[in-house]
Amino acid sequence: MVAWKSFVVTAALGIALAGCKQQSREAAAPVPAATVKAIPIKEFMGHVMEFSAESAWKWQGWTNDQSGEKSLFPKNEAEWEQAESASLTVAELTRLLLQPDLRMNGKDWDARVLEAHAAATEMAKAAEAHDEDALFKAGSRLDEACTACHHAYAPNLEGPATS
Ligand code: HEC
Repeated sequence: MVAWKSFVVTAALGIALAGCKQQSREAAAPVPAATVKAIPIKEFMGHVMEFSAESAWKWQGWTNDQSGEKSLFPKNEAEWEQAESASLTVAELTRLLLQPDLRMNGKDWDARVLEAHAAATEMAKAAEAHDEDALFKAGSRLDEACTACHHAYAPNLEGPATS
């Protein structure tokens, strides 16, 4: 008898919960992408693009310290994975530059975005292949793509972004 009662309660609860789920699924109308505002391009570049590009570039090249020259390239599977993920993040971010919120008027804006996208994608492929030379080459290509667009669309930028 007790068991029967608890079955009824459980079943009733189950039905109530199922109803709840059903309701919330119906209530969730799609949010038009345009209602979620983008941050201004200056903020996007300084905080989002630069941050992500640095996370990708940090896995390539060499530094010098007291013990001599040190390679920055990934040393194990987990690090190669990070280099690939950071590169793919940059690639995906470049696509936002084609959205109306961030897109700037200019005949070669889209082409410059596509070049940055291609360079970041090339970095990701090089990381996936664990290819240091290819990663370094693609990293320079990305750097040139950033710089070229800055020369054309933000000529007053100072510092490494235009160097
Ligand atoms: C398609 C063009 C374009 C590409 C590609 C591009 N940028 Fe920019 N970037 C801009 C413009 C335009 C500005 C100036 C924004 C402003 O000040 O209004 C800018 C500004 C910046 C700034 C300065 C932000 C500040 O606080 O003043 C940084 C840093 C930056 N970009 C980093 C990058 C990096 C890193 C890349 C490549 C991974 C990149 N950008 C690729 C167009 C581009």
